[in-house]
Amino acid sequence: MTIRRPIVAGNWKMNTTVAEAVVLATSLRTVMHDGGPTEVVLCPPSVSLVSVHGAIHGTHLGLGAQNVHFETHGADTGEVSVGMVGSAGASYVIVGHSERRARFGDTDEVVSRKVRAVLTGGLTPIVCVGETLEEYDDGATAAVVTRQVRAALEGIPAVEVGGIVIAYEPIWAIGTGRPATPEGANATVGVIRGVVADLYGHEIADGMRMQYGGSVTASNAASLFAQPHIDGALVGGASLVAEGFATIVAAAAVRVA
Ligand code: 13P
Repeated sequence: MTIRRPIVAGNWKMNTTVAEAVVLATSLRTVMHDGGPTEVVLCPPSVSLVSVHGAIHGTHLGLGAQNVHFETHGADTGEVSVGMVGSAGASYVIVGHSERRARFGDTDEVVSRKVRAVLTGGLTPIVCVGETLEEYDDGATAAVVTRQVRAALEGIPAVEVGGIVIAYEPIWAIGTGRPATPEGANATVGVIRGVVADLYGHEIADGMRMQYGGSVTASNAASLFAQPHIDGALVGGASLVAEGFATIVAAAAVRVA
């Protein structure tokens, strides 16, 4: 079996001023002084990327943006490009988060363009997929994530696809305190791995890192990471508290133990 390096990312969403972001990043730096086997990525608001980059510079902590435009530059008031977030220190970009899909027009087509833009810019996309509660109740989860993954990876050559991270985030689990069961999350991530295997073969699918996201906390993380397909987490609310996030990061180490 392929050993995949665990990856835990904190999606701070629209929280923290620049000063608060620096305080949080500095606390995380202190709490997680030892690198450990898990890759850790902080995704503050774009306006705080530069300052957080400064706060974590020289540590094992990585930096990601929460969103980008798919164009490199132009008359797109209020948007930022891959090159811009890269120049601010980001090496990852969250793409296709359900909040952006639902409220900001990130269709499958837009997500696909963003994934390609992030790769072209030399950064790593964390591609989010996941079903609504209605789709879940209808038993449509596998069909929905299959469609989303196929669309997101459209036109991506095999040499580039392996580095992509996919986050399975069922919408009904986000911010609700009601996570998927570890077995349920694992089954759907297994479906996603199967889609990647169909498109690119088993070797690439086995090497690709896939996270679960949706109400991950310090108390449920270990049971999620004990599942064979779940290589880490994309954490929202619980990533805003340094000690709790550090506990989640530490729990992911079981995957390489
Ligand atoms: P919560 O961890 O707050 O449920 O958010 C999950 C999420 O949307 C991460 O991208």
